[in-house]
Amino acid sequence: MTQADLVIINGHIVSHETTHKAAIAIRDGKIIAVGEESSMPPAKEVLDATGLHLLPGAIDVHVHFREPGYTHKETWESGTAAAAMGGVTTVFEMPNTNPPTATPEAFADKLTLAEQQAYVDFGIYGLMAEDNVDQLEALAECGVIGFKCFMGNTFGNLPSPSTGAMLEAFERVAPYGLRTSLHAETASIMAWRYERLRAAGRNDALAHVAARPDVVAVEAVSRAAILAEWTGARIHVLHVSSAAELRPMREAKQRGVDITSETCPHYLMMDTRDYATLGSLMRVNPPIRESADSDALWEAVRDGTLDMIATDHAPHTPNEQHNEVIWEADCGFPGVETQMPLMLTAVSEGKITLQEYVRISAVAPAKAWGLYPRKGSLTVGADADIALVDLERQEVIDQETLHSHRARATPFHGWPVKGLPVHTLVRGRFAMRDRTLQSEAKGSGLSVKRVQQMPTAKLVNSDKTLAAEIAKTSVHKEEVTS
Ligand code: DOR
Ligand code: ZN
Repeated sequence: MTQADLVIINGHIVSHETTHKAAIAIRDGKIIAVGEESSMPPAKEVLDATGLHLLPGAIDVHVHFREPGYTHKETWESGTAAAAMGGVTTVFEMPNTNPPTATPEAFADKLTLAEQQAYVDFGIYGLMAEDNVDQLEALAECGVIGFKCFMGNTFGNLPSPSTGAMLEAFERVAPYGLRTSLHAETASIMAWRYERLRAAGRNDALAHVAARPDVVAVEAVSRAAILAEWTGARIHVLHVSSAAELRPMREAKQRGVDITSETCPHYLMMDTRDYATLGSLMRVNPPIRESADSDALWEAVRDGTLDMIATDHAPHTPNEQHNEVIWEADCGFPGVETQMPLMLTAVSEGKITLQEYVRISAVAPAKAWGLYPRKGSLTVGADADIALVDLERQEVIDQETLHSHRARATPFHGWPVKGLPVHTLVRGRFAMRDRTLQSEAKGSGLSVKRVQQMPTAKLVNSDKTLAAEIAKTSVHKEEVTS
């Protein structure tokens, strides 16, 4: 029998359906056997995982690693180190860097930075904006994992595209089958309310919620779903924060729109009562809302309306985060390292099952981006991306020890957690071992683009797209002149 590089014995393997005790053998980064310990091949190394559960490594489809352009906040090295320490084996990184990932050149430069530094596998989003509509095909062809469209403004202040530009952008990317992730908040409503609130002298933390009421998300999700339905483009709604936007999401799913969605731990676990103590540290886009919203989001996680958990990992320095005038505080905080401990704590409290956690943290993102079952599953032939977790281990989240070391102030500082990743394997290689980052794993992360196999696109109205209509114009001209 061929020798394995690593055999893990005595652990419990968890999928979205079951948990069972089994050994697992890994060779050349892949899982080559799962089963009885006695059936495992000989191995260079045997790891005894007594007391540990083996989860498919988490896939976080929403992180901001800030490089190039804002390396005082985060780098690919620190961001992916934080991921490895959080049991996250694949991250999808957002394009609001400087320069933004809006052209094939910007993509190529970011890919080089990522390949040099990454501890974990990654995908890179291309920007979908008003002024790069003609770059979208080239971006799709050079290897973006999907697109990011800022329907509302946030850090980086990339202008949000008009509905007209968005429709053409959807028409252009639909044939590729790639998914477009949406910051679904409508910019014009927020800009209007911001001006009014500011003029009225509101500078308190809750004014941030008042500037971005849930209707901005309801309007944006509904509008994006209509454009996706008309074109056949696949969409993903980022950071769902409200009960109200679940209705247009459910309706779109019922109509057959290929729409997926995520929420983040901060929307599930915090609410407006926390602004009194946390102030601007809690400022994030979209805002953290009422406890009734959190309750509805938990329910939607359980019933599948919300497909997955992501983090919107958004590091800023403490100075940038803290401000008495809420409008002046940068939005967001790190999350990629704390997601798994926080969610496993929720598992220990019975909010969701361990299988549901695997579904939302690994299986659903892998399926939505065409990576399944190579990623998101611990079966023979899959990449050995594994978070080995101790469900009993307790700790208190301490921002001083987080690996986003330039920007690690988090509203979760001081929270007790139960359930922690102890080792993280990325394609069979330890990126974290015994809760210690393995520095030799730096630079071993790979772009997951080569794995991605999106199902064939189902185009709609392709005879009426702008390109099709423009083509008809020239035919018409020829007819008239001949
Ligand atoms: O609060 C946020 N911060 N929300 C986003 O969508 C972007 C992020 C950032 O890049 O800082
Ligand atoms: Zn974000």
